[in-house]
Amino acid sequence: MLSSIFHFQESLDKRKEEGTLRRLRIQSYGIDFYSNDYLGFAKSKELQQLLLQKVTDNPQLLSGSTGSRLISGNSDIAVSVEKDIAQKHQFESALLFPSGYNANLALFSTLPSRHDTVIVDEQIHRSVHDACKLSNAKKLKFKHNDPEDLENILKRQEGHCYIAVESLYSMEGDFAPIQEIASIAMKYKASLIVDEAHTFGVFGYGLIEKYQLQNQISAAVITYGKALGAHGATILCNETVKSYLVNFASPFIYTTSAQDFQWMSIKTGYEFLDQNHGLAEKLQNNIKVFRSRNLQSPSAETSPIQAILIPDNRRLKALQNILSEEGFLTYAIYSPTVKEGSERLRICLHSFNTEKEIVKLTGIIKEFI
Ligand SMILES: Cc1ncc(COP(=O)(O)O)c(C=O)c1O
Repeated sequence: MLSSIFHFQESLDKRKEEGTLRRLRIQSYGIDFYSNDYLGFAKSKELQQLLLQKVTDNPQLLSGSTGSRLISGNSDIAVSVEKDIAQKHQFESALLFPSGYNANLALFSTLPSRHDTVIVDEQIHRSVHDACKLSNAKKLKFKHNDPEDLENILKRQEGHCYIAVESLYSMEGDFAPIQEIASIAMKYKASLIVDEAHTFGVFGYGLIEKYQLQNQISAAVITYGKALGAHGATILCNETVKSYLVNFASPFIYTTSAQDFQWMSIKTGYEFLDQNHGLAEKLQNNIKVFRSRNLQSPSAETSPIQAILIPDNRRLKALQNILSEEGFLTYAIYSPTVKEGSERLRICLHSFNTEKEIVKLTGIIKEFI
């Protein structure tokens, strides 16, 4: 016990020395260029009013769910929201989760079995890696957004393969070539799973819907903590996969269901999204303003996440501090979270940022570089 405490403190001290110690802070006041609230839903008074009205009309929504959905925790609203969501995304079924992390944990710890292989993009979200640790399947990585490397790996596998990609990656702000990857998955009879955390809401219902790939993938994960300004997630899949998860996914079975309030906030978020397409257009205009400032970035032209490479943790910290002093909230990604030499400032653009704010922010970055 004592030696492990030493190890805890040593690891924390090392981070402190490197300037990368994480601390819980209360959100500071400033201009938001760091949150995932891409469309401003989390701050929208109009959406809050809609939700409050629904709670006033149905005050029982705020009570606890009382158990796992398989025992006492299921409800009419959970079932009807799932049905609605499946229909909207044009999938056979949907299964709600309290967060995207839980949804990925359920999928990748449950579907792949002992003789299977999970092939993940090297930049896949941590939740997929954590889930793979709970599964008996083999895990392999393919080079980021490199379908050729994926195909070479697939060719060499014997058992069934699962492929894990995100439609938009949050470290790089670049899109996966999902149409090409879907074709490769079909060719090798592999099961493709796509995480749409950063595309849902920003690009309609996500890229699967945009490219009509529903029949070419085994499951998609939609999260509600980002553009929808709420919390929670859905796995979109067919009836068999849903039933398999309900029967075998520990992260679904052995936990108390979220409250009905959470499902209602998701339902209300969809209604608000359907009525406010203009916000995604505003966001795209802001992305255009940012891109027109000619900062070098590996991110895609239309991505709400724009990464600026500032190699060296100390320089990156210095830039972030300057921006913070000027009132800008940004997020810096240090090594070892990313490879040494590819440390970066991650700018998240929103529908509610103003042109003036973007011009000032980019001006400070340009001067620093
Ligand atoms: C790609 C991706 N998947 C899953 C998650 C987890 O979603 P949630 O925040 O709802 O747990 C995140 C959020 O960090 C994410 O970026």
